Amino acid sequence: MSPEQPRVLVVGVGGREHAIADALSRSPRNPLLFCHPGNPGILELSLPLNPASDAPSDIVAASLRAGVQLVVVGPEAYLAAGLVDACRQAGIPAFGPTRDAARIETSKGWAKAVMQRAGAPTATYSRFTEPSALRLHLQEREGPVVVKADGIAAGKGVLVTADHAEAAAFADAYLASGSPVIVEEKLEGPEVSFFALVSGEVVLPLGCARDYKRAYYGDEGPNTGGMGAICPPDLPPNLIGKLTESIVRPVAREMARSGSPFTGVLYAGLMLTERGPYVLEFNARFGDPETQVLLPRLRTDLLDLVEAVAGGDLREQGIELADDYTCGVTIASAGYPMSGGAPQPVTLGEAPADTVLYHAGTRFTPEGALEASGGRVFTAVGRGATEKQARERAYALARQVSFEGAWYRSDIGA
Ligand code: AMP
Ligand code: GLY
Repeated sequence: MSPEQPRVLVVGVGGREHAIADALSRSPRNPLLFCHPGNPGILELSLPLNPASDAPSDIVAASLRAGVQLVVVGPEAYLAAGLVDACRQAGIPAFGPTRDAARIETSKGWAKAVMQRAGAPTATYSRFTEPSALRLHLQEREGPVVVKADGIAAGKGVLVTADHAEAAAFADAYLASGSPVIVEEKLEGPEVSFFALVSGEVVLPLGCARDYKRAYYGDEGPNTGGMGAICPPDLPPNLIGKLTESIVRPVAREMARSGSPFTGVLYAGLMLTERGPYVLEFNARFGDPETQVLLPRLRTDLLDLVEAVAGGDLREQGIELADDYTCGVTIASAGYPMSGGAPQPVTLGEAPADTVLYHAGTRFTPEGALEASGGRVFTAVGRGATEKQARERAYALARQVSFEGAWYRSDIGA
């Protein structure tokens, strides 16, 4: 990249992309950031790219016009649409996997097969395309089952239930829309999200965070994209080394061996069972809201890291994380995760020290006022020397955000 002011595009609209843009903007190399589609928070740090459409070819064309030298892709939908492939074809290095390698997230069946070949522990499963075969399978099983849509579902396409009639009804909705379904054994234990940068067979662990997936207090209610996160979670000693060697490295090696080398960040959603860590799923991108609590603690220059991954010269160097704690609270609009909610004007009070507010579902009205557009609207992040301090600061910040119908879980990190 040009030594003067590297031009970097961040693709996505969420709190995750705001945290990525924030970390890139802290680079001593002083990058000129562009965003697409962006949000009002990201736009404080970057210029809008304004491609003719959201299609990869138009994003690439606009990137070439703007002199973009590196594209960092946040959400899985752009990976699945082949944005990284399109960037590479145009000679622009991109952080993220090709559409082919993104199948580690976008096809659970494909991911399970890779894990089996790599020897990475994961729940046993069966895959169905027909309601009758699925019902027959459920009749033969006892106890709780986990039903998953075999495709992108933003964390929402999963049902854990002991009620097999409910399992079948849930599966029917996906089967009817043409999406195959996976039924797998239920695992038990605390969950953790593990992130590692991967470039072919080179693996560089970034760290772990804990995501709060259920909508309501006490881990009740439906699964969501994530209602909050903490970093670092309380983990057994040496877990990161173990996860790297027993899970991520073998999977990266198997993907490279079988002709689908991964580049980007590999996110293992894990359950720490009595039998050891098991993979619930892989994602081919950073987590949301985990990124909002992980990246503020990253002391190594994120720009150097993503550039090395995209350019194929990642080294297994050490990375430095700050010696503190972060807590992120998702502030959602009324109706989330069931419905979007009507747009609402937002008022922001004074942010307390050691906090940062990441925007997600916000936008400007034509008059330039900030409004909540629905879904997950903000992540309020607090940092501190202890988990408690981080949590108190996150909630102090959350209380400074107001819009009609705003709500959040009160037990993140508690
Ligand atoms: P996934 O989209 O596969 O990460 O699943 C979303 C959530 O469903 C996970 O975070 C878990 O809480 C739950 N889940 C998924 N698979 C299993 C499993 N095999 N056993 C127990 N819970 C699961
Ligand atoms: N926090 C869950 C996800 O990003 O998929």
